[in-house]
Amino acid sequence: MNFTKQTTAIFYNLKPLPIQQMLDFDFLCERPPSVIAIVHPGKKGVHKAFFGQKEVLIPVYDSLQEATQKHQTAEVLINFASHRSAYPAAKEAMETTSLKTIVIVAEGIPERQTKELIALAKQQHKLIIGPSTVGGIAAGSFRIAGYAGGKIENVIRAKLYRPGSVGLVSKSGGMMNELFNIIARTTDGVKEGVAVGGDLFPGSTLLDHLLRFEKDEKIKLLVALGELGGKQEYDIIKARQEGRSTKPLIMWIPGTCAEIFPWEVQFGHAGAKTGSDEESAKAKNQALKEAGIIVPESFERLEEKIKETFEELKKEGKIIVEEEPMPKEVPLDYAEALKEGKVRKATNITSTISSDLAEEPTYGAIPISKVIEENYSLGNLLALLWFKKKLPNYFIQFLEKCIILAADHGPAVSGAHNAIVAARAGKDVISSLCSGLLTIGPRFGGAIDDACRYFKNVVDNNTLPAAFVEDMKQKGISIPGIGHRIKSIRNPDKRVELLKEFARQNFPATKHLDYALQVEKITAKKAENLILNVDGCMAALFLDALKSSQQFNPEEIKEIIEIGYMNGLFALSRSIGIIGHILDQKRLKEGLYRHPTEDILYLNDKE
Ligand code: ACO
Ligand code: LMR
Repeated sequence: MNFTKQTTAIFYNLKPLPIQQMLDFDFLCERPPSVIAIVHPGKKGVHKAFFGQKEVLIPVYDSLQEATQKHQTAEVLINFASHRSAYPAAKEAMETTSLKTIVIVAEGIPERQTKELIALAKQQHKLIIGPSTVGGIAAGSFRIAGYAGGKIENVIRAKLYRPGSVGLVSKSGGMMNELFNIIARTTDGVKEGVAVGGDLFPGSTLLDHLLRFEKDEKIKLLVALGELGGKQEYDIIKARQEGRSTKPLIMWIPGTCAEIFPWEVQFGHAGAKTGSDEESAKAKNQALKEAGIIVPESFERLEEKIKETFEELKKEGKIIVEEEPMPKEVPLDYAEALKEGKVRKATNITSTISSDLAEEPTYGAIPISKVIEENYSLGNLLALLWFKKKLPNYFIQFLEKCIILAADHGPAVSGAHNAIVAARAGKDVISSLCSGLLTIGPRFGGAIDDACRYFKNVVDNNTLPAAFVEDMKQKGISIPGIGHRIKSIRNPDKRVELLKEFARQNFPATKHLDYALQVEKITAKKAENLILNVDGCMAALFLDALKSSQQFNPEEIKEIIEIGYMNGLFALSRSIGIIGHILDQKRLKEGLYRHPTEDILYLNDKE
C-alpha cells in the first residue's frame, strides 16, 4: 500500500507519547490527524491529545473488532502491544478487510509466531512492518508509528514534512534516523523511509520495500542499509538480475568490523550475527557491488555516494528539485519547553510551609526524618508549620494545653451535637466532622480571634476595663470571650482555672489575662455566667505569649490575630473530640436522629 496524506491508523495500546508524535507530524505536514482510534483492552472512552495547540479527542475502544467496525477507513494498525499481546492483536488485524498494513513494534515475539503472521499476511495480501521496528515515515504524508524520525526537531531538520525523491529502507531504526539526516543533506530528501526491524524473520524484507518503491513514480533513487547475518540482501541481487528492481540503488551492510572477532558475534538485533561466510558484511557488500549496486568503500563514504548519484540524476533531468516550502511550527510541549528553559510562567500558588520536591518531604526546611528523630511534640510542629518560628517552651506548652483542654466538652455542645446528628443520618466521618466544625463561630469556640482583637486593642490603648464594657454595651456587642451557657462564678470552668494557673507559673507576663479578668469582674457582677470563658482565656494568654516571646514584631502580631490562628487552634483541637463522637455513634450503630416534637414550640399562624 501507499501511505498518503489521507492514510489513517488505529493505534493498539494507549501510549500517549508515540500517539502525540504521530499527531505532531500530521500537524507539521498540514494533514488531518492520522490516529483516528485507539484500542486498549479494558478501557473505553476517549484519549485527549494535542493537534497543534488545540486538543482533540480520540475514541478508545476495548476491542480491535469494535474499533475496525467503527473506523473502516483506517488502513494501518500501529501495534504497540507488548511482545505477549502483539501476536494475537496482529492476527486479529489480519482477519479484517479494512486494515492493510500492520506495524509491529514489540521486540521478542517468538519466531514461530512471526512466521505464522508472515504466512497469513501473504494469504490476506497485507503488509507487515516489524516486529522490532520503529516504523517509518512517508515524508509529508504519514508517520508509520510514533518514534520513527526521532523528535520533531529531527523530523524538521531531515525535511520529512515534505516528500523528496529517495526511497530508504533499513534494518535498524536508529540508522534509518541517521540516514534521514544524511539524505536531507545530500539530496532533495526522502519520499519514504522504513525500518524493517532487526529480527531474523522480518514481516517485510528490505526487498519487499524496494519493490514497493519501484512502483512509486516519485521515488527516483533507492538507499538501503542491510545488516550482517541472514541472506535477505541476496534476494535483492536476484531481483536486480531479474530486472524487478531497476532504480539506482545505493547500499551498505554495516558490521564489517565483525571479522576482527575470532568467534561469531551477535550485534544488537536478533538477526545480526554472522553465520556462514556469505552472511558476513564483507561478503554481502562484495556481492552487492558485483551485481552493479552502488556500494561505498565504508559507511563514512555512503553520504558521498548518495550525493554523487543524486547529482547525476539531477543532471540527467530525472530529478527536478522543487521549491522548498517553509515548515509549519509545531508547538512545544509545555513541560519540555519549561525543562529546556524556553518558556517561563508565573506560578499560581506560593507555598512557604513545606515541600515535597526533595526525595524526602520537609516541614519548612526540616526533613521529616529529622522531625521524627528529634521527637518534635505537637506544639513544636505547630511552631514549625504555623508560626514558622522557634517558640519558647512555655508558648509551646500553652498551645499543647489548649489543644488538650478544648478537645471535647461532651455530646451536648454545638459541634459534637451537629456531628452526632450527621453521623446518625448515615454520613461518613469526614462529612460528619465538617458538619461539627461548621458550628465553630462567634458564639461557640470561634470567639477566640475576636477576643484577641478586642483585648489587644483595649490594652494597647490603655482603655479602662469599665470603659470597655460600657462601650461594648452601648454598641450592643457581646464581648467575645465573656459568658458561658452553664459555667459561672459559682460553677467555674476548670479549663480556665488550669490555663490561668499554668500562665501564672510559666509566662513571663500576663498583662492581657489580667485585663480580661478585670473585665470579668465587671460583667460577672451583672450576671454570674458572664465569666471569662475558655475562648476568652485562650485569647488573652495567646496575646501574652505572642508579646512576651519576643519572636514577633507588632506587625506580625497584628497579622497573626487578623488571619485567625486561634480559631484554627480550636478547630484542630475540637476535631479530636468530634471524630471521637462520630466513631462512638457508628460503633453504637445509632439510627437516624429525629428531634422530639415535644421539644419544639410550634408557633404556626392561626388558620
Ligand atoms: N458580653 C456582654 N454581655 C453578654 C455577653 C457578653 N459576652 N454574653 C451575654 N451577655 C448578656 C446579654 O446581653 C444578655 O443581657 P440582657 O439580659 O441584659 O439582655 C444576657 O447576658 C444573657 O445573654 P444570652 O445571650 O442569653 O446569654 P447566654 O448564656 O445564652 O450566652 C454565650 C452564652 C452565647 C456564650 C454568650 O455569653 C456569648 O455570646 N458570649 C460571647 C461569645 C463567646 O465568648 N463564645 C464562646 C463561649 S465558650 C465556647 O464556646 C468554647
Ligand atoms: C465547649 O467547650 O464546647 C463549651 O465551653 C461550650 C458549651 O456550650 O458548653
